Amino acid sequence: MVILMMIQVTVKMHLLQMSPLNMKQQLLKLLIRIVSYCHKQTLNLHQEDHKDNQSAFGALENEIAEGFLAVVDEIVKAHNGLGLSDLYPSLKFIPVDMFPGGVETSASTIEWTMSEMVKNPRVLQLAQEKVKGIFQSKGNVDENRLNELIYLHAIIKETLRLHPAGSLVLPREMRETVHIYEFEIPANTRVLVNVWAIGRDPSYWMDAEKFCPERFLNSSIEYKGTNFEYIPFDAGRRICPGIQFGMSVVQLTSANLLFHFDWKALNGLENLDMIEQFGITLTRKQVLRLIPIAPDYAMPMLP
Ligand code: HEM
Repeated sequence: MVILMMIQVTVKMHLLQMSPLNMKQQLLKLLIRIVSYCHKQTLNLHQEDHKDNQSAFGALENEIAEGFLAVVDEIVKAHNGLGLSDLYPSLKFIPVDMFPGGVETSASTIEWTMSEMVKNPRVLQLAQEKVKGIFQSKGNVDENRLNELIYLHAIIKETLRLHPAGSLVLPREMRETVHIYEFEIPANTRVLVNVWAIGRDPSYWMDAEKFCPERFLNSSIEYKGTNFEYIPFDAGRRICPGIQFGMSVVQLTSANLLFHFDWKALNGLENLDMIEQFGITLTRKQVLRLIPIAPDYAMPMLP
């Protein structure tokens, strides 16, 4: 809840910076205070949760927290002469960056990937066959052979073309005046890059609105910031630092969902809409409601 609030406030801060409101400064200050408050609340909740937590999961989380503190320690050492309190204002925004950056984006990409597959039963069936072909003998999906899931990878790439989680990426400010075609963009202008529109531009994509993962098979187009018609992770120096992690999480989760279940839309295919909701990430407007059907081989044997 607190994290969700932080995400929503962060979006409002970005949008507010674009607005011509006179009260913009005061509102921005207020929002920054809310983010700081949410951050403190998150830390408090975390401490409460782990006061008496002796479970294996708690131990793992504590280990991760210790790892994070060790990194903080290194940063403090690297900034000779500065104490933790000097760095705290920047450090406290690292989790604020990581949560919207890492969690919402991957989760919404998984939801869109499932939506598109269920909406396109031919694609769903083929993807399922490929996943089972590779992992059936082992009995479960793991990271070791993920790179063999070429068709699923193409499906996720196609999903990111149509539904890029960061649809407007992060705002930029022009350092100098530039001319693009007949437009002049003056220095200091705040610019948003519309990745969503670029991915659907018919001058770059054949049948741009159609979900067709095959377009990425035998294609050299990648999401690493070198093909400007396809930049779901953006490009340049501020490109998403979590590309590999994000893609692995989406791929591993989707492969598991395909391996263990067949899927049907709860209210029928004709009622499965693909309406998007704009926010810091581009999520579905209505949550995806699917029925998981366990295949015969997963049923427990009756005595
Ligand atoms: C499918 C999953 C993901 C997508 C589509 C995605 C997309 C993006 C996009 C479009 C940006 C904006 C880059 C820019 O403005 O130039 C971004 C930034 C960022 N992403 Fe990701 N991301 C994903 C997963 C992750 C993960 C898993 C992490 C971390 C664990 C992460 C961490 C970040 C951070 C910290 C930034 C801010 C970078 C900066 O301020 O320079 N992302 N991401």
